Amino acid sequence: MAFSLSGLITEDLAIDLGTVHTFVAVRGRGIVINEPSVVAIDRSDGEVAAVGNEALELLGQNPEEVELYKPMEDGVITDFDLAAKMLALYIRKARGGRSAFSRRVVLGVPSDITSVERYALFQAVQAAGANRAYLISKGYLAALGADIITGDEHASMVVDVGGATTEIAAVTRSHLICSRSIRKGGLDLDSAILEHIKRYHNLLIGSRTAERVKMELACALPISKLNTAALEKTKIRGQNLVRFVPEMMTITPNEIHNAIEPILREIINAVRSFLEDLSPEVGGDIHSRGITLTGGGSLLAKFDERIANELNLKVKTAKNPRESVVHGANAVFENPLLLRRFSRQSS
Ligand SMILES: Nc1ncnc2c1ncn2[C@@H]1O[C@H](COP(=O)(O)OP(=O)(O)O)[C@@H](O)[C@H]1O
Ligand SMILES: [Mg+2]
Repeated sequence: MAFSLSGLITEDLAIDLGTVHTFVAVRGRGIVINEPSVVAIDRSDGEVAAVGNEALELLGQNPEEVELYKPMEDGVITDFDLAAKMLALYIRKARGGRSAFSRRVVLGVPSDITSVERYALFQAVQAAGANRAYLISKGYLAALGADIITGDEHASMVVDVGGATTEIAAVTRSHLICSRSIRKGGLDLDSAILEHIKRYHNLLIGSRTAERVKMELACALPISKLNTAALEKTKIRGQNLVRFVPEMMTITPNEIHNAIEPILREIINAVRSFLEDLSPEVGGDIHSRGITLTGGGSLLAKFDERIANELNLKVKTAKNPRESVVHGANAVFENPLLLRRFSRQSS
């Protein structure tokens, strides 16, 4: 018979509910959801109509009827109720309608989450039908997913640069030694670019244009330190704020570098002060092993080199850095000792 009790229970789910992007992986099947962290709200009744790509599609089709929200965008979970609903819908979607509940869910959480927020997320995961919810620090999961944790008890360090936050963590095989979360990330680079172009060129550009400029032109090192590679310019289109007409202009990598520099400095200073606060043993381990960057923001050109130069450490960017947290969350299921440890901490 096709129907069986086990068919009602889907596999374990690993979730990275990012400020910009959500990933869900099913144990044994890999990543099944890779979508923006947005929800569409039906204006008529205030209910969640869709999440992720579907929410964007819905907005495209019925711009009058739905409104788009990004419940996580400020780094803290700005709207908790919405974040919980988004989480529940993503869990349902990951199951593909195949079952009523999942056995276990591992969810990456920022290290500065409050106990009230932690409890609310925990409840949301359980309300979405999970038997057990494990809420684990994103820093720890990023390190696990980037595969930098050693078999011995030596420390490793990871800097996960997300959309709205950067999570800095030192970990060993068995635990998170310490972590820190700052409210700066890739979105702040976009805003800095947007503000710069508005202020110095009287041109208002959209946030998507700012992000594209960042991906195409922004570089963490001053251009004078590079060879000719990054000398190309890029064209941007926006609204002239003096003449109120659409306008196209050319910008250079150097300008963009200067525009994002204050944000980069803040992130680097946070990493520096984190390093200074480490115990001598842990600091020694990090000095010999270096730092690994994860998160989408770590894809900024030359970011690893810049941090390495400033902090005099080896720095490398993880392979597929945007997926490190979800891979780490998935890897927890393969380690019964870790699950036992985190189940004591998270319930
Ligand atoms: N190639 C790239 N260069 C620079 N920034 C990038 C690149 N790809 C993605 N990003 C940035 O990464 C950020 C999102 O990272 P992600 O880890 O998905 O965030 P979160 O975990 O907070 O959802 C965005 O600000 C995005 O612009
Ligand atoms: Mg991330």
